[in-house]
Amino acid sequence: MVQATYHFPRGFLWGTATAAHQVEGNNTNNQWWKWEQEGHTDGTSGLACDWWGGRWREDFDRAAEGGQNAHRLSVEWSRIQPTPDTWDEDALERYRTMLRGLRERGMTPLVTLHHYTDPLWLVEMGAHSTGSGQGWEIEAVIPLFEKFARKTVEALKEYCTLWCTFNEPNGYALNGYVGGGLSGDFPPGKNDLKLAMQVQSNMIRAHAAAYRAIHQIQPEARVGIALHYRAFTPHYGWSPLDRFLTKNASMILNNIFPMAFSNGVIRSLLGTVQIPEAKGTQDYFGLNYYTRNRVTFDLRRPETMFTGAFFADDSDFSDKKFLINEPDGMFEGLKWIVRRFPNLPILVTENGFADAEDRVRPRYIAQHIHQMWRAVNFNWPVKGYFHWTLVDNFEWEQGWTLRFGLWALDEHTQKRTKRRSADLYAEICKENGLSSEMVEKYCPEVFDKLFPV
Ligand code: FCB
Repeated sequence: MVQATYHFPRGFLWGTATAAHQVEGNNTNNQWWKWEQEGHTDGTSGLACDWWGGRWREDFDRAAEGGQNAHRLSVEWSRIQPTPDTWDEDALERYRTMLRGLRERGMTPLVTLHHYTDPLWLVEMGAHSTGSGQGWEIEAVIPLFEKFARKTVEALKEYCTLWCTFNEPNGYALNGYVGGGLSGDFPPGKNDLKLAMQVQSNMIRAHAAAYRAIHQIQPEARVGIALHYRAFTPHYGWSPLDRFLTKNASMILNNIFPMAFSNGVIRSLLGTVQIPEAKGTQDYFGLNYYTRNRVTFDLRRPETMFTGAFFADDSDFSDKKFLINEPDGMFEGLKWIVRRFPNLPILVTENGFADAEDRVRPRYIAQHIHQMWRAVNFNWPVKGYFHWTLVDNFEWEQGWTLRFGLWALDEHTQKRTKRRSADLYAEICKENGLSSEMVEKYCPEVFDKLFPV
């Protein structure tokens, strides 16, 4: 049997990713809390993983003991700026303590400023004036985000130089504004592709403003966004229509942001928008990759321009058939970045699988990390990997029904239980590589795929 190790470059970042609303608990002042109370989600976030109550300490210990040398977390805007005219210095101090906690454990922090949640006052802004839209639909949000970014970076800069302005702004816009579309139902639950594009362009402009503000405050900062990349394949390869819809889906979901960053212009079937200030505003590319969809013409879906996205029945499914295990898409996503931005450092800012029984996750991890290794061996500048996620947490519209953690959580008792994947990932982090022994031990069923003779 082959014995070998896929090694990663020295200094590679290995971590997990989390988001404030999903782990902190009691985030009562944002639009997601309200959405949960209105009954749109499968359960409510409640105490979540109780990080705001201090349990981040024990979870950071778990990460550090598992060999992780980095962690990605987000700050909650509605805590830092509870009303348009007030800053909560205690909340900022609490985040400083958490970041210091990471440093003390030898972990590099990556801080996301916006991970899906908005203060209630922000989303209600403009809601009552006629016809102008609300929240991220209107331009007035852009300087407000910049102000929030300035305040936060000023407060946290002692502990962090790696910033992510937005997590999945494409996911935020499409899930919130194309109901029943390519993915789940997020607030505000609208159904208007044009508005989704407007929200994306406002977020791009806010990112560009924050990018410059952060560099003013901290010249050595590295600033980027974490983009959701969805791999798409035409269901019927011979069908020009399926091929066209696949291209269009990829355009709308994947390509808007990269286009703005490379050309300062976004072009789609819905029109052209000039955003010259966005050009070149990335110090790294953050890739969130999970899965691949098949795409076909679907008459029942006018809201998505008749695009149906689905998984084949014989796929390697996650719980609730929410995702499938498609490791090739990871390589494809990395290639898609390198082609557009040949020298830009890349961080895999999220990758993971919902699997309460931890049946598929070990092979999902091994196979995806193997694909990332292939990319590294083309000398593509992949610098780190953040697994989603450390401990089961509140999974947005799916509530507590999807379990992404290396550690299981009983949200009623707050008890954590280690899954085997945590051990596999710890071995990978400590080795800075993936070995044949690990694959044999944790997922022998894919041994021949990963170490062919
Ligand atoms: C990503 C989100 C993250 C988490 C994972 C499962 O799209 O960024 O918050 O919900 O999916």
